[in-house]
This record gives sequence, C-alpha cells and structure tokens, in this order.
Amino acid sequence: MEDEVSVDVLLKENRVFAPPKELIKNSNVKNWMNKHNIKTYDELLLKAKDIEWFWGEVSKDVVEWFKPYDKVLDWNLPWAKWFIGAKYNIVHDALDKHVENWRKNKIAYIFVGEPGDTRKLSFRDLYVEVNKLANALKGLGVRKGDKVGIYLPMIPELPISMLACAKIGAIHSVVFSGFSSKAFRERVNDAEAKVVITCDGFYRRGKIIHLKKQMDEALEWAPSVKSLIIYRRTGHEVQWNEARDHWWHEITAYQPNHCKTEVLDANDPLYLLYTSGTTGKPKGIIHAHGGYAVGTALTLKWVFDIKASDIWWCAADIGWVTGHSYIVYAPLILGATSIIYEGSPDYPKPDRWWSIIEKYGVTVFYTSPTAIRMHMRYGEGWAKRHDLNSIRLLGTVGEPINPEAWMWYYNNIGSERCQIMDTWWQTETGTFVIAPLPLISLKPGSVTKPLPGFEADVYNTKGEKVSQEGGDLIISKPWPAMLRGLYKNPKKYMNYYWNKYPNVYLAGDIARKDKDGYFWIQGRADDVLKVSGHRIGNSEVESALVSHKLVVEAVVIGKPHEVKGESIVAYVVLKEDVEASDNLRIELIEHVVKEIGKIVRPEELWFVKDVPKTRSGKIMRRVIRAVALNKSTGDISTLRNPEAVEEIRKAK
Ligand code: WTA
Repeated sequence: MEDEVSVDVLLKENRVFAPPKELIKNSNVKNWMNKHNIKTYDELLLKAKDIEWFWGEVSKDVVEWFKPYDKVLDWNLPWAKWFIGAKYNIVHDALDKHVENWRKNKIAYIFVGEPGDTRKLSFRDLYVEVNKLANALKGLGVRKGDKVGIYLPMIPELPISMLACAKIGAIHSVVFSGFSSKAFRERVNDAEAKVVITCDGFYRRGKIIHLKKQMDEALEWAPSVKSLIIYRRTGHEVQWNEARDHWWHEITAYQPNHCKTEVLDANDPLYLLYTSGTTGKPKGIIHAHGGYAVGTALTLKWVFDIKASDIWWCAADIGWVTGHSYIVYAPLILGATSIIYEGSPDYPKPDRWWSIIEKYGVTVFYTSPTAIRMHMRYGEGWAKRHDLNSIRLLGTVGEPINPEAWMWYYNNIGSERCQIMDTWWQTETGTFVIAPLPLISLKPGSVTKPLPGFEADVYNTKGEKVSQEGGDLIISKPWPAMLRGLYKNPKKYMNYYWNKYPNVYLAGDIARKDKDGYFWIQGRADDVLKVSGHRIGNSEVESALVSHKLVVEAVVIGKPHEVKGESIVAYVVLKEDVEASDNLRIELIEHVVKEIGKIVRPEELWFVKDVPKTRSGKIMRRVIRAVALNKSTGDISTLRNPEAVEEIRKAK
C-alpha cells in the first residue's frame, strides 16, 4: 500500500529524484569534466555540441587505435564515416589489451547456468577461447568480410563466437535463440553466411531446448552455409551431418592459443543484426568497428558509471542489440566483470535474479520494464529475502516505463538509494542516445535528455521543433555508433530513416518534451510492436499468419498489456468454406510461433469475415486498433467496407 501512496505523491508533486552528492562527485563523467575544466552539466552539453571535438576527445579514454585517425568525421548524409584513416579492431580493446596487464586475471564473465552450474572466465581465459575458435574459423576458410551466422543461447560461447569472428575481420550475424528455425534461416540466407555456430541445446524453465535440431531444420535450405560448429552444452544426442558438422571441442582442441588480430579500417563492418521494421522482412542493420567501440564504451562508462570494482549485470539477451553493446563489447572494452545468466528470470522460483545479485554482489543492474512488472506481480517479498545492498545503480531499456513500475523498482530493488537510468536507444543507434548521467535529476517515466555528443529533438509534421504537444523523435547530428546502412539495401536506408524531414534521422518513436527539456517517449509511431520489450513488426506476424494455407488475410495490432507493455491481437480472415473453430485458432497461434518464435505468440486471435480497408485496398490498422481499444475511429465513411468495422467490434 505504501507504494501506491508514493506513486500518487510523485505524480501530483511531479517529484524529481536528485542524484546523491557522492554519486556525482565520484562519477566517471564528473572526473572527465574536471580534467577538461567543465563545471556544469549544461556546460558539458554545450561543449559537446562540437561533436568532432567531443568524440575525438573522449575516444582517447576508451580505445587504442593501431594507427590514429586523420579526421574524426566525414558526413555525407546519410553516410557517416568516423575516425577516418584509423586502423583498428574492436577485439584489441575488448580482449588483447587486457591480457597485457593486471586485468588478464580479472574475471570478465561470471556465467550462471539455469540448472545451477557456474563458470568464471578471466580475460585471459576468454582470450584463449576466442583465439582458438578464431583459428578454427580460419581453418574452415573464413576470411575478412565473410559472414558467420550465430544461433546460441546465453552461454559464454556466444560472446566468444562474436569476438572470434571480429578478431579475423569476419562479420557476425547473431540471431536470438528464441527465434524459430525459419526465422534463423531467413536471416542466415539474407546474410549469406558461410559458417554457422550453434549448440546442442540449452536450459529454459528446467527443460532442454533442442537448438541443434532447429539449426538442422534451418539449414535444410541454406545454400551458402558450408560448415556448422556445435558447442556441447546439454550433452544430449544430436543428429549429425558428417560433411558439414564439427564439434566445437574437437575443432578447437589443437588450435594455438594465439591468433593474429586482423588490422582493419575503423569503418570496416563488425556485425549485422536483423531487426523489425514496417515490412514483413527484417532489416539487416550494419555496425562498424571504430565508432561503435567508442560509442558503446563511453556511454556505459558515463551513464552506468562503470568502475574496475563493479559487477555489471545487463539482464538482456545477447541476441538483441542491448546484449551486443552492453554485455559483449562495451563492458569488455572497459575491462568490467559481467554476469551472464542462461535461464528464465523466475526459474525455479521468482527470486532467481535476486539470488544471483546477492551471491555475486552485483553493483549495477540493467533490465526491461516488462521484467520489472513481472517481478512486481510476484510481489516484493521475493526480493526482500535477499540482501541487495551491493546495488548502487539501476537501469531500464526497451519500452516506456510506467511510474508505478519505476517506483517499485526504486523502492524494492534499489532500496530507495539508487538512481534509475532509463536509456532510450535502438538497434540502429547502437548506443544510448537519450539517457540520464549521474549528474542529472530523474523524473520517473522520462528518459531525461540527450547525452553529450548527441542531438535529439521532437518535430511536428511540418518539421518544426515542438515540446509539450509531442511529435516525431529525431536525431539531428550523426553519432559514432550509428548504423552504417541496411545490408544490401542502401536505398531503403535513405528512405526509411532520412527522408521524412531534411537532414535528420527519423527514429520512428513519438515523444514529447516537458518545460524542463526532459524527453518522454510515448511509443512507436510506425507499425512496430514492442512486446515484452522485443521489437516485432506487425506485418511480420501478419505474413506468418497468411503463410498458413487456410488464411486469406490477417491484421495484427498491439494492445496495452499490464506486464508485457503490448500484446499481440490478430484478426484473421479464413478462406471461403473453412470453418472457424477453437482448434484452428490454436493451430494458427502455433503456426506463428513456428514461423517466428515464441516471443510473438498472439495473445488473442479472432476470426472475422473482413477487415476494414481503404478504397485502394490498404488495410486500416489504425481504425482496427481504435475499435479494438474502444477509441474513436474518426471518419470511416471513406472506407471501402465500413461494415467490416462492426466485425472487429464484435470480436471481443
Ligand atoms: C523503444 C532496444 C521508451 C523505442 C535498445 C525504440 C524505448 C525501440 C526505450 C528500439 C526507453 C527503447 N523508453 N522506449 N528507454 N528504449 N525503446 O531496436 O520504441 O529493440 O524505437 O532496441 O525500443 O528497439 P530495439
């Protein structure tokens, strides 16, 4: 009950949470400001408006080039090159430099398996594993610029695989292990991967997920793939293809502990990561070595204030950008110790996470609003059983956080002592863009202000800056970790992000700014859903539904959901003569899961005779959503089939 009162007070009084003085004084960002004779946060923002000066200056703190750059930025909209002329490889900063000093014996990853097994890998251990695998990849013919597909769960072999690729200049394309074999196949074929890496299986909610089996299905039609490396995690029996398959432990067994780190151009591609847009097909976002290294390391160092003594836990999956940037690359560059946990947050009991925090003394913890709401539902009793006093900072990402969840997190996990860093960013941005620094007061539900070195704003449809009324969130200057394009699709890159308003990047979110210049993210402006923080295109789910032989048409909308943020609601038109039934409903839901993965399981699926369309035949998702959520539909007289609106209304 106490919580409810505080949320009320908070909302009424517009309460702000000032950072503790100690946090400010000892913070990495303050330390940097002192060195540069910068007195205040506002002065820092002002100075950082000179982005070339700023990023050049901060890069000195986080990366070591093989050969220094000649120029910080070359901006030829929409193409950016950062740190031009520099020779570089991100693996030098993530690994090689650490084994040259005391850090070699520091723990890089504490791995906690779902069944309770644990492993600690020092930077030296990680270095050896990465080098062995890199040599094995070379042995399979992988060369600079080749693509390697990775389908692995949350085990240390996932970062090891990524780093092994990067080390030899290959481009990794990680696919979230919760995606289905079909989704993996689509991505691996688009990337034309030569080699793929997986494991026999992994543990999830006490069961084994048979990943190798899914991989075998995916590779039934994947002509570019010549070899598959399989790490043994669960030890269950798997099918074997002699011509293609190699056990990880066998192929790496006799490889040397050293492998040369390929000297690359700072702008050479590091990875592809597929993400959802408004079409049925995912887009391959390209990130490059140099700018990405500087951007991710600096933002983690400043926003979460990571120090040598911290135990950092970003509880995302490495299969998404959050894990790429803030479990793999940034913490390793900073030489931090991170937790990797394999399993479900509430298995075997809802306090699994809190017990890990207590056991390993996690100091900085970062998760999603969905996870917080799930734990809220279980009740604070589970957290109270554990000593969480090691935590000094908290964070969230992926979707807007409601003030109630914010307060619950603040009170119960942060013991009313810890600032909550609500970080706004995207697969495309590579790093946080709008997020608090330890210097700034927080308002629950706001992501505060653009970080130094980033310029973001809110535009109305005329392209004018607006505040309270809200509009499109845009980024008006290039930034080092920005995407370098869409794989195989330069035109779409331009059209999708740079065409709506001149000279600025369109984020695809709706936001507003308050009188203090604080940003409040309201959600996506386009047809992209955020279900449990996972990004899914409406049309991807629709394509999956219409790929079923009995379906003619399908429309998918997002509906507010207490825990997941949004849930998927599907309206399906069946072929003539096909009878709607509960069994068919289940079959279609399972079909979507099979096509894409469990994360997109529709919460509701309704059979309708028709869906509202314009005269030109375009499906009116906006109208459907309004009807489903009991909101005003506006004028529907211009629809080709206004009677279809009734169909949607009845389907509840
Ligand atoms: C949303 C995840 C509100 C937003 C890192 C964005 C957020 C999309 C926040 C990108 C936040 C991310 N508050 N919304 N703090 N962070 N989003 O590519 O809609 O999976 O456009 O990257 O997540 O999702 P993506």
